[in-house]
Amino acid sequence: MCGIVGYWGPEKPKAIILDGLRRLEYRGYDSTGVAIFDHGQLKVERSPGKLHRLEEKLRGIEFEGPTGIGHTRWATHGEPNEKNAHPHKVGGVAIVHNGIIENYGSIQKRLVSEGVELKSETDSELIAHLLDEKLREGATLLKATLEVIPKLEGAYSILVVNEKEPDSMVAFKNGPPMLVGLGNKEVIIASDIQAVITRTPRVVYLDDGEIVTSIKGAVKFYNSKGDEIRKDVHEVKWSQAMAEKAGFDHFMQKEIFEQPQALRQTMEGHLEHEPLRVVLKSSGLTDDEYRNFKRIQLIACGTSWHAAMVAKYVFERVTGIPTDVDIASEFHYRHLTLDPQTLAVTVSQSGETADTLACLRRVKKMGLRTLSVCNVPHSSIDREAHGRIYTNAGAEIGVCSTKSFTAQIVALELLSFHMARLRKSCSDEELKNYISGLLALPGQVEICLNHDKWFREAAQSLTKFRGFLYLGRGVNFPVALEGALKLKEITYLHAEGYPSGELKHGPIALVDNNMIIVALAPKDELYEKNISNIQEVKARGGQIIAIGSGDDQGLEKISKHYLSIPEAVWSANPVLESIPIQLLSYHLAVALNRDVDQPRNLAKSVTVE
Ligand code: M6R
Repeated sequence: MCGIVGYWGPEKPKAIILDGLRRLEYRGYDSTGVAIFDHGQLKVERSPGKLHRLEEKLRGIEFEGPTGIGHTRWATHGEPNEKNAHPHKVGGVAIVHNGIIENYGSIQKRLVSEGVELKSETDSELIAHLLDEKLREGATLLKATLEVIPKLEGAYSILVVNEKEPDSMVAFKNGPPMLVGLGNKEVIIASDIQAVITRTPRVVYLDDGEIVTSIKGAVKFYNSKGDEIRKDVHEVKWSQAMAEKAGFDHFMQKEIFEQPQALRQTMEGHLEHEPLRVVLKSSGLTDDEYRNFKRIQLIACGTSWHAAMVAKYVFERVTGIPTDVDIASEFHYRHLTLDPQTLAVTVSQSGETADTLACLRRVKKMGLRTLSVCNVPHSSIDREAHGRIYTNAGAEIGVCSTKSFTAQIVALELLSFHMARLRKSCSDEELKNYISGLLALPGQVEICLNHDKWFREAAQSLTKFRGFLYLGRGVNFPVALEGALKLKEITYLHAEGYPSGELKHGPIALVDNNMIIVALAPKDELYEKNISNIQEVKARGGQIIAIGSGDDQGLEKISKHYLSIPEAVWSANPVLESIPIQLLSYHLAVALNRDVDQPRNLAKSVTVE
């Protein structure tokens, strides 16, 4: 939520900041703005809407200064209009902010009672007033920041500049991510690696409670008491190309097509071939620990929660360990009793989702061992968990998660096969069959991707439908939920995901010949029961798009459209079914002329509760 970028260096900040904001726009796109030095003064330009509107506004405007900051906003306090856009400038200080100030009300009351006139409805402007008070008393930007931090409650990160210190930037992190790129005689401070990687691979990640100052390019780190601290510099490997569209129309489309490679990368290093087995490398937990856990608790949000739900079916069947899955925002506030021998697994593409991170901290306090399944190395969840498995799917920029979902399923299956081997809960033969299923996936996903054209054409005939019901049973049910989420978020059409067997307990009342039913019906142990459920909706006029395995003439006969995925072991089906449901949503969104990569009201990384 919200992208922040700041630059000091020999080049003109405007172009670098705008480029950074373009790369961060997926974090929020309600409004944008910059504050850049120009002949000793901080000039602020802001615009509602997406970045291109700010770019138009800035066309022809030059800034002659070494330093600037920029922001792309996902609104929390106040409408997404120009006056609420960041940066907020008060006196000589300008601030960009990501997060929420929880004691906003009391600060606002105090400032207003002292006659301060507020120009916006944001909590961010209040921070600028507090800093300005300190600067007017003669503090430096660092000192002012150190004195203001204790007055602020909530999870937030800020980046600030001061007219009197044109070569300085100060940033503080307490929640949302912030990192510092150390370039060739230049410094970039940003909320995400995407804004830095084009300039330098050398990066320092701030931890909560840490401040960074950059003064004439000299970078120093402090704790919130103001003591200087040492920080490690990381070399980031992601290439710039991974965050480009590479000839595709949308990031989402590119990311759908990257799945064969993403899945190979997820498996890389974790498989031994003679004999065929999963040996998780450097997960941070010991084999003895994996042998002795008595329960598994999976915690995640959104698409990652759906991947975790798939994993529940796999863990229970393959390892025999009782497994629970919770949505992080619910789990966080539940009155919990957890067995101390529970492995808590947090699943998150970004590794920054506030609710998931809060749950990780909570279960750590309760004494549980924790494992993260993340896509972004060095993210907060990755750093704070005891152990880790990376999905290694490469940068995912489209707000609508695709390749991270299938990579998460594969990573979680690797974990369950690893545990099953150690606990001898499955025969070697069964495990080999499951692992062969994983190994076949990249090739089989390619085959599914070949149906792309079919979806492009079919989407045209589906634009008139307003209701979509996704059905699946067993391990395929979470894919039905994921299918409905994909459709909702990028087409804005109403969709529901249901276990097929649950339909006659209520939702079947929705079915008529205006309802599209996307039925996931691969040949597995629940196939016959699933088909009976599909027959029930067919009998009530439902228009069936069936996704089945291989040649299935029976299913084809009762369907308006039949799509075949390759025949596979049950544990591989969720990944294969994901491709058609992603392509269906993508092409329908394009046919409806929706903003595929930046759907309304959403942001890629949800760093506020
Ligand atoms: O980064 P995370 O995996 O923790 O994000 C969780 C959800 O916000 C995310 O999966 C969201 O539901 C997807 N972008 C939907 O496509």
